[in-house]
Amino acid sequence: VPAPVVTIDGPSGSGKGTIAKLLADKLGFSLLDSGALYRLTALAALNAGAHLEDELAVAKIAANLDIRFAIAGGEVSAVLAGEDVSRDIRMERVSMAASKVAALPAVREALLQRQRDFRALPGLVADGRDMGTTVFPDAPVKVFLTASAEERARRRFDQLQGRGVSVSLRDLLEDIRARDDRDMNRAASPLAPAEDAVVLDSTDIDIDGVLQKVLELVQKNI
Ligand code: C5P
Repeated sequence: VPAPVVTIDGPSGSGKGTIAKLLADKLGFSLLDSGALYRLTALAALNAGAHLEDELAVAKIAANLDIRFAIAGGEVSAVLAGEDVSRDIRMERVSMAASKVAALPAVREALLQRQRDFRALPGLVADGRDMGTTVFPDAPVKVFLTASAEERARRRFDQLQGRGVSVSLRDLLEDIRARDDRDMNRAASPLAPAEDAVVLDSTDIDIDGVLQKVLELVQKNI
């Protein structure tokens, strides 16, 4: 019997990263932040001076990524070629580049097995855009977490302000809409709920409320 997987898909800022982490902690499962793999690919491509539209070049970079996820003090850090790049991969520039390289089918193909390799006992929580549709279609629990674009932009704004980064709410909203548009309208694994996913809207429920609902699904299905 393969290890159980809980997939949590949704647009950026829906809170899926936070939920995935809390859930993995609570269940003692491993965690796959698949967005980080696309971000690492984007950063490596930018560092190599590759053109982000050059599908073969970027796919090659994706296939040869030298990465590791290290856990220190409860925080997961992303290490690229021996260097901690956890902060770099969260920059807006890299976010945009990640959504561009993620639209390339050969890049998605290059990262597929790497993502499946995270599946191990006692279980995995996988967070992304196509975890329930493409990467783990047989997952016993699939959640699709959404929230309005305005609410997601506001959350990101608060998060950045808390870190002392000054940004405009309007720019963030535009970025979020551009990324949503690219994620939902690409041909390869577009962002969409799996047929058997439970759709939760976090616009008006807090993290605890969402976590409770997901835990109920886990109890029922795993
Ligand atoms: O989730 P996160 O915002 O870190 O993901 C970064 C980018 O990677 C997203 O904008 C999306 O385009 C892409 N992505 C994807 N498929 C996934 C996870 C992320 O296409 N499973």
